[in-house]
Amino acid sequence: MALRLGDVAPNFKAQTTEGEIDFHEFLGNSWGVLFSHPADYTPVCTTELGRTALLKEEFAKRNVKVLAVSVDPLDKHLGWRNDINETQNCSVDFPIIADEHREVAELYDMIHPNANATQTVRSLFVIGPDKTIKLMITYPASTGRNFFEVLRVIDSLQLTSKHSVSTPADWKQGEDVIVGTSISTEDAIKRFPKGVKVVKPYLRYTPVPDEK
Ligand code: BEZ
Repeated sequence: MALRLGDVAPNFKAQTTEGEIDFHEFLGNSWGVLFSHPADYTPVCTTELGRTALLKEEFAKRNVKVLAVSVDPLDKHLGWRNDINETQNCSVDFPIIADEHREVAELYDMIHPNANATQTVRSLFVIGPDKTIKLMITYPASTGRNFFEVLRVIDSLQLTSKHSVSTPADWKQGEDVIVGTSISTEDAIKRFPKGVKVVKPYLRYTPVPDEK
């Protein structure tokens, strides 16, 4: 059955470039990003894994562990990882899952037969510390993902999991957020001491609340 937002991210055991892992144990209390790429030794995938490695500190700051997956064997991943490090000037140290038997790909519906019968598309799942799926995005093989957008959504997810707010279109860390519609303006003024700007009764902004 297709996975949906809010579902528990299915657990699995897999061989990876960092050794064998149990997915849920690997995540522990962290957030997770699990992303598939069509194949090793391909140009767009090379830049995507390189970008992810270069953003290591950004993922770490947000308490996010990342894992890549494709239906290639471990020895191929290991050779390709050297190329990624060389060409993207990085050091890939997150696990790349060797899913040659397509177990993870099938569990997460990452093969879209009408796009490509044998390779995974560019699926990406963000998983919360409660192991539920918070974000799913799917890109075609020809389009590399924007990992700054992935970080931006994680910022929104982490903020909105702590406060009764949502984030407007194109929101970035530090910009005003939207007061939850279930809160009256009177309550909002008490709950958000940095101020509430009422544009319409249903559209109210407040600066990013302080950490709880
Ligand atoms: C790539 O990563 O460059 C790629 C992979 C599969 C199909 C097209 C491009």
